[in-house]
Amino acid sequence: MRRKIAAGNWKMNGDNNLLDDLTTLTVGQNISDPEVIVCPPHTLLNKAVEKTVNSFIKIGGQDCHVEKDGAYTGDISASMIAETGAKYVIVGHSERRDGHNEDNQRVRAKVQAAWSAGLIAILCIGESAAERSSKDTLTIIGTQLHASLPDDATAVNTIVAYEPIWAIGTGKTPTLNQIKETHDMLRDELINRFGTEGMKIRLLYGGSVKATNATEIFQVENVDGALVGGASLKATDFQPIIDALAET
Ligand code: PGA
Repeated sequence: MRRKIAAGNWKMNGDNNLLDDLTTLTVGQNISDPEVIVCPPHTLLNKAVEKTVNSFIKIGGQDCHVEKDGAYTGDISASMIAETGAKYVIVGHSERRDGHNEDNQRVRAKVQAAWSAGLIAILCIGESAAERSSKDTLTIIGTQLHASLPDDATAVNTIVAYEPIWAIGTGKTPTLNQIKETHDMLRDELINRFGTEGMKIRLLYGGSVKATNATEIFQVENVDGALVGGASLKATDFQPIIDALAET
């Protein structure tokens, strides 16, 4: 059985008050409870780790550089994220792929950098609205998965998040059938490539997940949880999503 995950991506949002709010989340501690991960901006990582040290909330970064160190003004390496005590890092989010011109090859190098630092990579993939309209979704995300995930992926070092770009922050979501179609395809790809390990890699859905749609999305086969943006910015919004996952 794959343990469910509720992961919050704060993006460029959040402050000390939001960290205090985070500690009010009620998170189960059994293997049958969802794993809860919060990815605040890098400036808050140290404090986030400190504040959650006695809870079951885990902390992650939102991106990392491919190199360990060097002359890369404004960047942060995976080992720096790991040094804060964070255990995860999001890589290949569409806001990085599009806004920072990150192609599959670079994302793949970031996954590798995350692993080298001992972090678990949360690899994001997803199609644009135009790709969805031209019926290229499965080809696009299949290629992204293949090209951005290195051969050494395991269920321990990798989580995959399917996030249609047009659903991110828009309030739009794919139909449940569309979510099923993509997640089934991704599961098949993972099994074809990694065998039984591919069966164990968690597949999250992301894009406008809210308390009101969480339950139905979580009931879709091969959806092992969610990567949540806007609705992870308040404990009162994030908690019902965690609870919906716990009840699925
Ligand atoms: P959203 O963002 O939940 O605000 O749509 C999801 C994400 O970008 O990870």
